[in-house]
Amino acid sequence: MCGIVGILGAKPVALDLVDALRRLEYRGYDSAGVATVENGHLERRRAEGKLRNLETRLQSEPLAGHTGIGHTRWATHGKPTERNAHPHMSGRVSVVHNGIIENYRDLKAELQAKGHVFASDTDTEAVVHLITDEMDAGHGPVEAVRRSLKRLSGAFALGIIFAGHDDLMIAARQGSPLAIGHGKGEMYLGSDAIALAPFTSEITYLEEGDWAVLSRTKIEIFDRNGGAVQRPVTKSIASSLLVDKGNHRHFMAKEIHEQPEVISHTLSHYLDMGEGRVQFPELGIDLSAITRVSISACGTAYYAGLVAKYWIERLARIPVEIDVASEFRYREAPMSPGGLALFVSQSGETADTLATLRYAKANGQRIASVVNVRTSTIARESDAVLPTLAGPEIGVASTKAFTCQLAVLACLSIALGRASGHIDAAKERELVQALVELPRHISVLLRNEHKFEELAHALGKARDVIYLGRGISYPVALEGALKLKEISYIHAEGYAAGELKHGPIALIDENVPVVVVCPKDELFDKTVSNMQEVAARGGQIVMVSNADPDEAGCKVVSHIEMPDVHPFSAPLIYAVPMQLIAYHTAVLMGTDVDQPRNLAKSVTVE
Ligand code: M6R
Repeated sequence: MCGIVGILGAKPVALDLVDALRRLEYRGYDSAGVATVENGHLERRRAEGKLRNLETRLQSEPLAGHTGIGHTRWATHGKPTERNAHPHMSGRVSVVHNGIIENYRDLKAELQAKGHVFASDTDTEAVVHLITDEMDAGHGPVEAVRRSLKRLSGAFALGIIFAGHDDLMIAARQGSPLAIGHGKGEMYLGSDAIALAPFTSEITYLEEGDWAVLSRTKIEIFDRNGGAVQRPVTKSIASSLLVDKGNHRHFMAKEIHEQPEVISHTLSHYLDMGEGRVQFPELGIDLSAITRVSISACGTAYYAGLVAKYWIERLARIPVEIDVASEFRYREAPMSPGGLALFVSQSGETADTLATLRYAKANGQRIASVVNVRTSTIARESDAVLPTLAGPEIGVASTKAFTCQLAVLACLSIALGRASGHIDAAKERELVQALVELPRHISVLLRNEHKFEELAHALGKARDVIYLGRGISYPVALEGALKLKEISYIHAEGYAAGELKHGPIALIDENVPVVVVCPKDELFDKTVSNMQEVAARGGQIVMVSNADPDEAGCKVVSHIEMPDVHPFSAPLIYAVPMQLIAYHTAVLMGTDVDQPRNLAKSVTVE
């Protein structure tokens, strides 16, 4: 994830900016830079690689400005070179940015046609020129930013400074978090409170869609509609990375809301978003030679693997065998030499998954793991590691790790499809674009969270809840049921919708909510038939779909309206309502959301 910092200081800020960036190093980056306002002009220093390179640069060419922004970049659009490193700037404006500007191509073409000259390959630079263009048209900085924000699409966070304005910084949050730190006669900006811990513990978190105008003594915050709003000042305890919930009540809520950002970050590791291609890191495995894939994992990670089975078989036409690790390890599965064995684990320490890894290794398989903890045992014992860049996940119920696992597995599936010759460049671009748009769609969904609070009141009364899904939505239904049971303690089961009449339909009556995961894909009509079977028996249908509830042809008691997304990327976005249903039901029930009874975050015993 890119890191953003900003300081309106009482003394030169460049070295403090670098210090703050150092605290964001855990997010990963490949270049860094700072810019300050110096005698009314914008000056910047940037360097490829680690922060020490930037420091060396600042030693030989110091910056004296008291107002500045800094950034650690994880390349998405354009190579990790100094030229693409942030801050980006024109003569009037300098910008640091985290996330993706989805419509940057259109903006760039429009601005180039007006004579703006771009100096990088990044999406960020379109923001710089857009604001500059508004200022050239006679608007002041605040109005120029306000007008520009309306034209940006995507999930992002921005920090902006201006030539000739030593006491001004503007921040905007749309999908990626931003924290403002209050100092004595100083003001700070950071991707999270951890970056600001050396300067202040008084933090205001911007909410979705907020943008803020900062000076050394004052903050004005506006919501997405331009109305002035107040956001509380909270006391941060960010000295430890693991204890900061931001302005959320639970880690699980924070982690659900981090998804637009961490999915972007994870995708940027595997995609060249500018070119619309998968850019897989060197795996030491010839993807075109793979004839069979076996996947093993536990719990939520297993469901991520199950989604991948649908993707890989569809896109690469390679058979995929999948099993929960606790079964796989003892059933003496025959494994022909040369296969790819894939292990999915957030912690990288799950005992059963590790045991299956060792079994597969002993049986001549190439071992690849999708892990969130890169120093974990599963990572260390793998031939190739495919990291999820979700950041630390504290809530026992896995949320952002799951969607990041899906993001990695989606990229792997495209890479296998390409290597096997089953998808061409145009199809690859289409699928990559579907993934790139996801963070924005998830941000929008998260803005309408109140609907889930209403739904929780109905689910909280139930003794049993059934989840149904068909095709690639089946594992999503399984994950929804697991989430609900583990944190609300309500009995919930997921079924393949087509299996309903082979047994589970006996459970349906007017007291049973049935959550149906049904994107409008090629299987939608089949699932509609199952919904009608449920409705005929009085079941309370909760329809999670981009289709109109009238299309169900039966009574739907609740409709979670989903955005229209490509069927390929649907599992990532449909996972989010599963999390929100479980979260709000658990909050209503008063359970210990982050540490539910009987569960451990890392299951290192059999
Ligand atoms: O660390 P891992 O991903 O290997 O953990 C696997 C499961 O224990 C984990 O996904 C568990 O099911 C979660 N509590 C689900 O929310």
